[in-house]
Amino acid sequence: VDIVFASQIETPESWLPRLRRALPADRFFVWPECGDRERVEVALVGEPPRDALATFPNLKLIQSLWMGVDGLLADPTLPRAVPLARMVDAGMVAAMAETVLVHVLDWHRHLYRYREHQADGVWKRHRQYMACDRTVGLLGLGALGSEAARRLLLMGFKVCGWSRRPKRIEGVECFSDLGEVLKRSQALVCLLPLTAQTRCVLNASAFAAMPEHSCVINIARGAHVVEADLLAALDSGHLAHAYLDVFETEPLPEAHPFWHHPKVTLTPHCAALTEPRTAVPVLVENIERVRRGEPALNLVDPSAGY
Ligand SMILES: NC(=O)c1ccc[n+]([C@@H]2O[C@H](COP(=O)([O-])OP(=O)(O)OC[C@H]3O[C@@H](n4cnc5c(N)ncnc54)[C@H](OP(=O)(O)O)[C@@H]3O)[C@@H](O)[C@H]2O)c1
Repeated sequence: VDIVFASQIETPESWLPRLRRALPADRFFVWPECGDRERVEVALVGEPPRDALATFPNLKLIQSLWMGVDGLLADPTLPRAVPLARMVDAGMVAAMAETVLVHVLDWHRHLYRYREHQADGVWKRHRQYMACDRTVGLLGLGALGSEAARRLLLMGFKVCGWSRRPKRIEGVECFSDLGEVLKRSQALVCLLPLTAQTRCVLNASAFAAMPEHSCVINIARGAHVVEADLLAALDSGHLAHAYLDVFETEPLPEAHPFWHHPKVTLTPHCAALTEPRTAVPVLVENIERVRRGEPALNLVDPSAGY
């Protein structure tokens, strides 16, 4: 099989040596190099250059190197007739669960407040809670949300979650009604894909529905949050803190109020990165499936938008 690697963000050096070792009989090209375009059957993409994919007439699979495919689906030049698979990578899933835990624990153990006290030279203790006193709500119970739920349960937190279709996960109170999750969530974690239905889901009315002094953790996509509504909910004192990894505009503009807001902890879209060591076997499996004429794993449902 001829395979083209087309990503403006992922570097071929992190991927191609492992791929070539695993698939010595296949030919890999790095865009814009692509050999005979008619022979290319698989495209491995991060953020591919616009129009690139439409130039391969016999593409059988577009394989994303990332779990979220909102950027790809928003590209009008994406060939819609070619199956699109997203990455579901155990290394990234584990990294994301760690990120959820670190933020939930930062909030639960009041570390965000102690950092502020330290800056002010203040010696002050806050009341201790047990993990079982706290309910963590997960928006999205997919590959990432369900693993985060499992790890939170191991630590003793109560966990509830929201999905589009009904779900059963042992120990997790699962809802398809968002309001049921919001009213329970003292820490609310967004792990949704960005679709027309989930854009702006974290807005003023969602924050108002949450208990007083809760925290919000957005590690999915910036456009899930109405940033002005979040600032208002933090400034009014209704929300205690926000942990934000993703933003409407990235990199976050220099003058953005989140940068120096005392109630915001921010990170530069690094909550979880694809881990080539665990992701390459997933790519290999899907390339073998193309060779055998079988459907790929983790296909995106274009009608659902994820
Ligand atoms: N910040 C980062 O570094 C980073 C890294 C990786 C991924 N991400 C983001 O994380 C997102 C989630 O990844 P994933 O692999 O967990 O996705 P996934 O396996 O597709 O799971 C998505 C979950 O969201 C639910 N959902 C989707 N639309 C919904 C709606 N309208 N109402 C209620 N629930 C809805 C789904 O419900 P069903 O179960 O019913 O389908 C599913 O439970 C990605 O799309 C990506 O944007 C961010």
